[in-house]
Amino acid sequence: MKYLIVGATGNIGTRVTQRLIARGERPSIFVRNAKKAKALFGAQVDIHVGDLDKAPSSLATALNGANGVFLVSDGPDLDTRDHTVAFAAKSAGIRHLVKLSTLDVHTGVGTGPWHARGEAAVRESGVAFTFIQAAGFMLNALGWSDSIREESVLRTFTGNGKIAFIHPDDIADVTTAVLTTPDYDGQSLVITGPEALSYGEMAATLGRAIGKSIRFEEISDRQAHAGVVAWAGRGPYADALVDIWRAVREGRLATVSDGVMQVIGRKPISFGRWAEENVGAFS
Ligand SMILES: NC(=O)c1ccc[n+]([C@@H]2O[C@H](COP(=O)([O-])OP(=O)(O)OC[C@H]3O[C@@H](n4cnc5c(N)ncnc54)[C@H](OP(=O)(O)O)[C@@H]3O)[C@@H](O)[C@H]2O)c1
Repeated sequence: MKYLIVGATGNIGTRVTQRLIARGERPSIFVRNAKKAKALFGAQVDIHVGDLDKAPSSLATALNGANGVFLVSDGPDLDTRDHTVAFAAKSAGIRHLVKLSTLDVHTGVGTGPWHARGEAAVRESGVAFTFIQAAGFMLNALGWSDSIREESVLRTFTGNGKIAFIHPDDIADVTTAVLTTPDYDGQSLVITGPEALSYGEMAATLGRAIGKSIRFEEISDRQAHAGVVAWAGRGPYADALVDIWRAVREGRLATVSDGVMQVIGRKPISFGRWAEENVGAFS
């Protein structure tokens, strides 16, 4: 099998590419920035430079000779890119496409509707697929690092609501396993972290990891929205994030699944371990 990774320079794509290399594969990667790709993977991959928005036809060469594709796409119009990749994959005779999606296609919260449209585009193409429907990433907690480092505080409006954030290595391990067998064709796999935790509980866990007490401060929906708009700008991203936090507070995102165990036969990694791995960002 020859694999093509779309989104190889991102959080999950980098890890999946590294895992394929560790298995002795030489993956192809479709990237916008060859320099960034070389810094990450050296000469261990075949780099194809292109852009799904500006030059979607650049994908055809990258697909040449590949059998399996891992697709990461983002944004409110991600279904356009999913459509481009899935239909190109189908006409290139790709055997299996694995799409990173979200658990929220089931709740309709946040980016859920974006990915639901993306999944529909993949189904419509007729290519064999697997959807990895991941819970919120533990990496999102890096967004708290400034206020924790500078003021020892985490401000949210999620109340006592809980969410089972998942470790990026679990997403990458599951994806690599799914990509390298035909066993999951046609399936949607819901994967989450091991336990649902409130933001207060996660703040306490981070506090233990860095040896400092972290205050948990409740803010209003409007304050949270203003905070997101300050760094992400007004628009669908900011709205999606606030929608997610509201759903957490309302207890609608507390799903815990055994998806990681089902696919790779081990428990998902705890938030405590992620916190220990990332103390540098918070202290
Ligand atoms: N964060 C969460 O809690 C969460 C939960 C569930 C699901 N998800 C989903 O996970 C995905 C994000 O995964 P991630 O964090 O690994 O993503 P990421 O780090 O933001 O990486 C995105 C990748 O896509 C590439 N890319 C962007 N636009 C492109 C274009 N026009 N043509 C070609 N490549 C392009 C980027 O390349 P450059 O390096 O050139 O920018 C990068 O490699 C999204 O679909 C999100 O909805 C996230």
